[in-house]
Amino acid sequence: MFKITLPDPSLILLLGASGAGKSTFARRHFQATEIISSDHCRALICDDENNQAVNAEAFALLHHLTQLRLQWNKLTVIDATNLQTAAREPLLKIAQEADISCVALVLNISTVRCVERNRNRIHRVVPDEVIEQHQRELLEARARLPHEGYAALYELSETEIAETRVERIFPLKS
Ligand code: CTP
Ligand code: MG
Repeated sequence: MFKITLPDPSLILLLGASGAGKSTFARRHFQATEIISSDHCRALICDDENNQAVNAEAFALLHHLTQLRLQWNKLTVIDATNLQTAAREPLLKIAQEADISCVALVLNISTVRCVERNRNRIHRVVPDEVIEQHQRELLEARARLPHEGYAALYELSETEIAETRVERIFPLKS
């Protein structure tokens, strides 16, 4: 068993390539209302979770929802790739301004496995080159994460993900 401990409330950034299993992990361990997904935000705006043309609006919505939830001291999980520094920075800032801990949780899955899972998908297949690009970005992100100020940083392999149990701790606020 692999236990991860999360402060409640906290802002949890999932990181991983397409097909790494971020949405699956989020659904398994968190309530639906605790998860803010970039795909879902795109769909809310234009009915198409794949339409990258609405990214600016979708991320504005994602940030706004995050801010609102943190103001209410609600644990919030960001289900997006979160691979680029520019994607993580505004989320870290929102957490800091709300005085809520931010946790990074990396799903470290091989490119071969991500590609295999993507090819087996029905309604959304991401090209192999995109996954390869994500894996390069993940390598860069992993080097940066320890310096970005997270309250905790977890990196899970495929076997660890299968055995993971999430435990929440409720720190007393001064
Ligand atoms: N999957 C699987 N076994 C796992 C995790 C995921 O078979 N342990 C499958 C899912 O059922 C899905 C695919 O792999 O069909 C991708 O998983 P998903 O959670 O959707 O990956 P994401 O990281 O969310 O991918 P994306 O960034 O493209 O949303
Ligand atoms: Mg997903």
